[in-house]
Amino acid sequence: MATLEIRDLHVSVGDGADATEILRGVDLTVQAGETHAIMGPNGSGKSTLAYAIAGHPKYEVTSGSVTLDGEDVLAMSVDERARAGLFLAMQYPVEVPGVSVSNFLRSAVTAVRGEAPKLREFSKEMKQAMDALAIDPAFAQRSLNEGFSGGEKKRHEILQLEMLRPKVAILDETDSGLDVDALKVVSEGITRFASGDTGVLLITHYTRILRYVKPDFVHVFSAGRLVAEGGPELADELEEEGYEKYTKAGASL
Ligand SMILES: Nc1ncnc2c1ncn2[C@@H]1O[C@H](COP(=O)(O)OP(=O)(O)O)[C@@H](O)[C@H]1O
Ligand SMILES: [Mg+2]
Repeated sequence: MATLEIRDLHVSVGDGADATEILRGVDLTVQAGETHAIMGPNGSGKSTLAYAIAGHPKYEVTSGSVTLDGEDVLAMSVDERARAGLFLAMQYPVEVPGVSVSNFLRSAVTAVRGEAPKLREFSKEMKQAMDALAIDPAFAQRSLNEGFSGGEKKRHEILQLEMLRPKVAILDETDSGLDVDALKVVSEGITRFASGDTGVLLITHYTRILRYVKPDFVHVFSAGRLVAEGGPELADELEEEGYEKYTKAGASL
């Protein structure tokens, strides 16, 4: 059973005198098969948490720990994190003209599994995964992220999940521009993973996706800390009442 443990995590951005502490002590445990939603107002530090776990160079961990099955994630390179079983959706957002989706996926699969899959088997596996996600076969030959619509980016995200089968997936759903069809495909993909062995950390400002993905736990972020925790009913409460109560609490910290 995989476990991601975040303990008293403090993260700053900026250098020297300009450094600002964004995360101010975050504690969170995600186990295999659990879905955790992290919600919170804009600017509360949700994406910073994702970037810090991903190993983005701009986000400096000043104290605290992140471990996956007891292994120190913060000591790992970005590639090692992926090989250890962490999936971070925003890790490859760049457009790469000339690199097809199919090439990209094969490299990613090779990096994570430690050996290149046989081309025929890989093609079959990819085709099955794309069918399941209702992705047009022509998508495999598109240049990576080039001109992808919001819906295509999200489908690609879930396709990567399907192919890489991580232990823990961190999905930062900042993009609210999904139409209902894309939202359903993505939500079904996430739900399929979440009910298996994968632990899911779903970061979202809006409650919309939580109508389709039922989290086991909902956490509320405010001013760089987790300030409330509950079950799916907490998401319903946030939808009704917004974040005001929590931003006030955050401001007085
Ligand atoms: N690379 C960065 N440089 C400077 N400030 C940043 C950077 N990334 C995030 N911040 C600041 O950190 C705070 C939290 O941002 P973020 O983690 O993106 O919040 P959220 O995802 O909850 O909207 C914001 O005040 C934001 O301006
Ligand atoms: Mg964000």
